[in-house]
Amino acid sequence: MSSTREIAVVTGASGAIGSAICRRLAADGYAVVAQYRNRAEAAEALKTSLDDAGAPCDLFRADLATPDGVESFVAHVRRLTEQDPPAGIRTLVNNAGKLLGPSLQDATPDAFDQYVAVNLRAPFFLAQGLTPLMHPGGSVVNISSASAHIASAGDLVYAMTKAGLESLTKNLGGARAPPGSRVNAVVPGFTDNGHPAFSDDTARAYMGGLSALGGVAAPEDVAAAVGFLVSDASARTTGSLLDVTGGMTLSPRPHTAGSVKDLL
Ligand SMILES: NC(=O)c1ccc[n+]([C@@H]2O[C@H](COP(=O)([O-])OP(=O)(O)OC[C@H]3O[C@@H](n4cnc5c(N)ncnc54)[C@H](OP(=O)(O)O)[C@@H]3O)[C@@H](O)[C@H]2O)c1
Repeated sequence: MSSTREIAVVTGASGAIGSAICRRLAADGYAVVAQYRNRAEAAEALKTSLDDAGAPCDLFRADLATPDGVESFVAHVRRLTEQDPPAGIRTLVNNAGKLLGPSLQDATPDAFDQYVAVNLRAPFFLAQGLTPLMHPGGSVVNISSASAHIASAGDLVYAMTKAGLESLTKNLGGARAPPGSRVNAVVPGFTDNGHPAFSDDTARAYMGGLSALGGVAAPEDVAAAVGFLVSDASARTTGSLLDVTGGMTLSPRPHTAGSVKDLL
């Protein structure tokens, strides 16, 4: 992939939100380096659609649950930046995730480690490997979850990993880790990723009922927030969490007046 465009590195590009982020950043003028794990067909379809639009897209297969997978992806991106002319990294979007994690009762040590490996360890070591290659003005964007902010007993381990990812965001942003670059997170609520729950009326109504705005998000809503955080429009924003949950983290009260005095 030789291009004069700055590079946007996106993990989990075969998924719904990841592919929307890739399309958004390609439209914003970046050359996309897209990581996927199992869904080669979805990744290839993304690449074809970006190629057709004249936007360079490089695909790389890696299992980010393993240190070797993370290392091989970092080495691959490093090689891309060493091309002639050398390319700079504009952003690392840590989007790949293991969703819907176990409860206190169901978790096993192995499952716990898998969630931590994909959702927390991989973003940490990708940031360690790639931020030194980032141009001033570049930024890391981590994809967190509303689960880090609300009681999520059924997804307890998942929620814990996302809370850790937000801590990484704040600490790395505060430490000004890479020279001149920024670190932020996007916090999505329920976002239609094609999971059967989003086609089930009861499940969809339940999910919509948890947000102040109602309904669920589209992957493009999350991608728009990422686009903002990558752009110069957010040049003074670092260590922040951009909430796109539709108000899910506000704990909307069950009745609209929302005051104890109305109960008296
Ligand atoms: N959808 C929601 O309601 C929602 C809400 C809040 C936050 N989020 C967050 O948004 C992000 C994207 O979620 P999504 O809804 O788009 O899910 P998705 O469609 O299931 O996509 C998940 C992506 O992560 C990749 N992945 C999973 N395990 C991996 C591993 N071990 N190594 C490398 N890649 C791995 C998958 O790759 P393969 O499929 O190729 O294996 C896929 O590309 C996640 O971080 C998730 O926690 C989603």
